[in-house]
Amino acid sequence: MERFGTKVVLITGGGSGIGRAAALRLASEGARLALVDISAEGLAVTAEEIEKASPGTAVLTVVADVSAEADVARYVAETVAAYGCIDGFFNNAGIEGTQNLIQDTATDGFDRVMSINLRGVFLGLKHVLAVMKEQGSGSVVNTASVGGIRGTGLQSPYAASKHGVVGLTRNAGVEYGQYGVSVNAIAPGAVLTPMVQEYLRQLNPEDPEQAAREFLSDNPMKRFATLGEVTHLIAFLLSGEAAFINAAVLTIDGGQSAKY
Ligand SMILES: NC(=O)c1ccc[n+]([C@@H]2O[C@H](COP(=O)([O-])OP(=O)(O)OC[C@H]3O[C@@H](n4cnc5c(N)ncnc54)[C@H](O)[C@@H]3O)[C@@H](O)[C@H]2O)c1
Repeated sequence: MERFGTKVVLITGGGSGIGRAAALRLASEGARLALVDISAEGLAVTAEEIEKASPGTAVLTVVADVSAEADVARYVAETVAAYGCIDGFFNNAGIEGTQNLIQDTATDGFDRVMSINLRGVFLGLKHVLAVMKEQGSGSVVNTASVGGIRGTGLQSPYAASKHGVVGLTRNAGVEYGQYGVSVNAIAPGAVLTPMVQEYLRQLNPEDPEQAAREFLSDNPMKRFATLGEVTHLIAFLLSGEAAFINAAVLTIDGGQSAKY
């Protein structure tokens, strides 16, 4: 039986990388989807790939900026108007920002990362949890990072935002557990998405592959996570099987965060 048959899952950052892979995975398990992204083009590609892989899946796409509250209120309202409920929420959109010492980090760059990665996750929680509390059910997965639980260096805006996502997750799980709603976070190590390719280019513009080798030498398993491994965890946390996991931060990083 399909784990997500008739369930409605809302995904931010659905136009690329982990969000797109999660959408494809959940569609393959029968979910009805609402996909949010700032990139209309990215959303169109995801919708096309879903139609190819899981024909007939219900897919609503909403172009929205997760850092703008009016946009967040709109993507939630459009999802509820289309489907009548929100069973799962993958609160995932984010950006990397630049790699610099703190003294060389542009303040508006810091603000931009915080606004998308932390304010965006907060706004998503604010508007979706109101719906889930009313329903008396729901599962939320926020995307944190190894950078949200360890200091990895040269990425203070990203680290600050992802540590904030961990704090929001724990607090939201404690607040909303009593309403039948779970809120968890995943903390992935590196997955080779466009975001990580850009990160490696910033570390070594002449030879990003060398940057990748150096980066991986620090990982106990010496490799990137696959999208399949990460989406497996997301699907588990959004399914009823994980109902008693709440306010937790689950690493999926080959052991990287245990090592520092
Ligand atoms: N790839 C990794 O190794 C890795 C590791 C840990 C955590 N993460 C986190 O996973 C999440 C997804 O990253 P990814 O690797 O899939 O990156 P990605 O760049 O492939 O996808 C991110 C998506 O978010 C969208 N987005 C960016 N700003 C937005 C905004 N203001 N409003 C709406 N959408 C916006 C982008 O258009 C893009 O489609 C991020 O939160 C990232 O920090 C990624």
